[in-house]
Amino acid sequence: MSQAPRDATQHDPLAKALSGADDRVRLSHWLPPRQGILPHIRIGKRWINTLWLLPAGAVALMAAVAAAQALRELPAIQAFIAAHPGVPAAAPRVESGFPWWLRIQHALNMLFMMFIMRAGLQILADHPRLYWRRDCTPGTEWFRFQSDVPEDRIWTAKDDAVTLPGWLGIPGLRHTIGLARWWHFGVNLLWLLNGIAFYVLIFAGDQWRRIVPLTWEVFPAAVSTAIQYASLNFPVDEGWTRYNGLQQLTYFVTVFVAAPVSIVTGLMQSPAISNASGRLGRVFSRQAARSAHFVSFCWFVLFIAAHGAMVLVTGLRDNTNHMFAGVHDETWAGFPWFFAMMAGLTIAWLWASPFTLRRARLVQRVGRFMVGGLKGLLERVDARSQLTEKDISPHFWPNGAMPASPEYEALLAGGFADYHLRVGGLVEAPAEFSLADLKAMPKQEQITTHFCIQGWSGVAKWGGVPMREVMARVRPSPQARYAVFYSLADGGDGGRYYDVHKVANMAHDLTILAYEMNDAPLPVLHGAPLRLRCENELGFKMVKWIAAIEFVEDFADLGAGQGGYNEDHEFFGYRMPI
Ligand code: HEM
Repeated sequence: MSQAPRDATQHDPLAKALSGADDRVRLSHWLPPRQGILPHIRIGKRWINTLWLLPAGAVALMAAVAAAQALRELPAIQAFIAAHPGVPAAAPRVESGFPWWLRIQHALNMLFMMFIMRAGLQILADHPRLYWRRDCTPGTEWFRFQSDVPEDRIWTAKDDAVTLPGWLGIPGLRHTIGLARWWHFGVNLLWLLNGIAFYVLIFAGDQWRRIVPLTWEVFPAAVSTAIQYASLNFPVDEGWTRYNGLQQLTYFVTVFVAAPVSIVTGLMQSPAISNASGRLGRVFSRQAARSAHFVSFCWFVLFIAAHGAMVLVTGLRDNTNHMFAGVHDETWAGFPWFFAMMAGLTIAWLWASPFTLRRARLVQRVGRFMVGGLKGLLERVDARSQLTEKDISPHFWPNGAMPASPEYEALLAGGFADYHLRVGGLVEAPAEFSLADLKAMPKQEQITTHFCIQGWSGVAKWGGVPMREVMARVRPSPQARYAVFYSLADGGDGGRYYDVHKVANMAHDLTILAYEMNDAPLPVLHGAPLRLRCENELGFKMVKWIAAIEFVEDFADLGAGQGGYNEDHEFFGYRMPI
């Protein structure tokens, strides 16, 4: 159902210009589709289509089989395989089989991974380029599924987002990152809890012995098993009690390397954490973290593909008996469970995207219930890390719908001499400040990274007046819990752009109202005459072209009540330090 704007008479006059919003994704109100290109990887100056990996992989596989079969005829290799048959001789045995908790955790992991990975791809499609350097200058990316950035027009980050089909991303469409993030983070939390319980339980018993190598012999054993698998003459399967060298290494890397790497690189993409991590955050930038996050994703894709294929070809009956029924016998006890699991996964797969589009507001609410509080905690982090002049980005992606009103045109034409920032609401001394008034207040400069929700980042030097100076003058009353920033620009779906911040978050040292960017007056594209900088939040929270600030006790009666324009219209969260 569509929500109408509520009674706005008690608020700043601009509250009347806010719009209601749909509770579902309606195509007529959404960004039109835009197809990307097939994924390409850059090697030197050449872009290579990753589709080549399919024929190259098939040829490599055939060559590996031929080579392994030839190798196995050599006496030296036969002796090597006899000495290292697969399972390292010194590897201890697991006596407890596959207990019920392990089987449940395995099934949950399959389910969670499906949501996490599909939502991750949807997030990636919002800025379909990956970089190692922090600045995101077009042409410096190493991976992309979007063409060159056009140079003959303003090309915003939103223009760059591409469509994903609903069977692949969750929820599909273009620029549905707000909804994809609720899935990604909400299910991440469940996956994390499942993972912590898994770590505790395997080390509480003997299960860890199956996947933690305890002898260097694991390496020759892994080489031997690789040759045996590749030759299509498989090693003896002892999986009920012990894994062979190759299994042990791949499971170990997946559980103890890839999973922690994806968690750490996920967290390092947070503006609050990155900007509070000092040198680490500066060296291991958001883009390096994002790229490494994607590499760990690729590991999971490869692992799941190889793992699934091996389950089928090395003996579906034994494997499903072990992991779905916990038995090691000649029955088919595990197969029906496996089949039911696959059917359930297929239904969940088909359901996720249409449900998300239809019940978008519900997904937002459930997501906020699950991870909103945790995200909010990150606002307490002191995100004070700064960069240097040499880090300033040559390219800073533009974004947002520019102000197009006659009022703004007139202000611009007059060099913003007639501009006034209105500050009111629950304050002791409501005030209007001209640009000259603001410039007469103590000035603060900071060189910081801008973290866009879409995935790009950019470094700039900002100059302006700290919010604490403005608050010291207007004196918010004790009831004031939130600061509402109204823009001079409308949002992309009509109605005025606005956003809400906790008052406490406005008191950070680096929260400023910027009127300069890179030592020049703030350009129109980036928010002239005044924009917010709040370095522990994502970019869309830093309202550009600020018209007014209002202090309120509650924001439920503003717009569609979600705490901001993108929160109302695009289902983003309103506390976004990650
Ligand atoms: C607790 C663990 C994790 C956290 C905290 C996390 C966090 C994040 C964050 C913050 C983003 C960027 C969001 C944005 O730019 O708006 C992201 C993107 C993504 N995540 Fe995760 N994530 C986690 C686990 C995973 C796992 C396990 C996978 C896949 C196996 C995965 C796959 C992806 C992909 C493909 C993307 C988009 C591309 C990229 O940024 O690399 N994530 N994740």
